Amino acid sequence: MSRHTDEFPPPSTGLHVAIIMDGNGRWAKERGLPRSLGHRAGVAALRRTVEGASGLGIERLTVFGFSTENWRRPPREVSELMGLLKTYFRSDIDRLEREGVRVRIVGRRTGLEPDILEIVERAESRTVNNHRFHLQVAFNYGGRADIVDAARAFALRVEQGRSQAHELTEELFESYLSTASAPAPDLIIRTSGEQRISNFLLWECAYAELVFQQVYWPDYGPEHLKAAIAEFQGRERRYGAVSGEPAAEDTILAAG
Ligand code: IPE
Ligand code: IPE
Ligand code: MG
Repeated sequence: MSRHTDEFPPPSTGLHVAIIMDGNGRWAKERGLPRSLGHRAGVAALRRTVEGASGLGIERLTVFGFSTENWRRPPREVSELMGLLKTYFRSDIDRLEREGVRVRIVGRRTGLEPDILEIVERAESRTVNNHRFHLQVAFNYGGRADIVDAARAFALRVEQGRSQAHELTEELFESYLSTASAPAPDLIIRTSGEQRISNFLLWECAYAELVFQQVYWPDYGPEHLKAAIAEFQGRERRYGAVSGEPAAEDTILAAG
């Protein structure tokens, strides 16, 4: 892909952007507030960001809401985060449905409370016919857990005699991941200044561009997303090849 530094706003290219929404706790601490208020402000930031995303050429947004490691937090904080997921879907689902947003939750469903599961499944089924914009919420999600679950599911098929080990390819393996319905993200953003992946989309991040932004998640909005996209557009994605040179496969084809 060529460089497009001067081209903004981007054409509607159907970008998939994934965000590690980080910094709620520090945002609250700086204001002398409890962490729970940081998480609440984080939900408002999510609303703003989803609202602004489609105007920036983004077709799909995946947000990291709760990791398989976030169970290590104090029980009170865990239940606040569970509560916020419920509140978000209860209060926003009508609008999301009306605005043509398709909602999917990715991650492990085992271990989630029945009422959360019900809300999540309702949000998915109510928006199943929407195609204008895709919102994926990674909840009880861990990249390693997702890879292990996919490996188990394939192993089970082999055990049942329905597949053979040699049939496994990257494409087939991917189809067992909880993110299988979406293409891999083009861009992964992490807010709050931390520069790590924290078990997010480990398989899917192979060729994603990474952008780290200083802003704490509760202060995030479309203007920050726009800046991240502008940075992304200045990157050259090579996928292991050499830019401007034909691939060896093409040369062989041309010669032959
Ligand atoms: C992100 O903010 C929200 C979740 C991880 C659920 P944090 O709660 O991690 O905020 P910091 O990193 O402690 O500031
Ligand atoms: C990653 O952030 C998880 C989410 C944003 C949901 P964390 O705050 O949990 O990650 P670490 O602990 O700083 O690596
Ligand atoms: Mg954090």
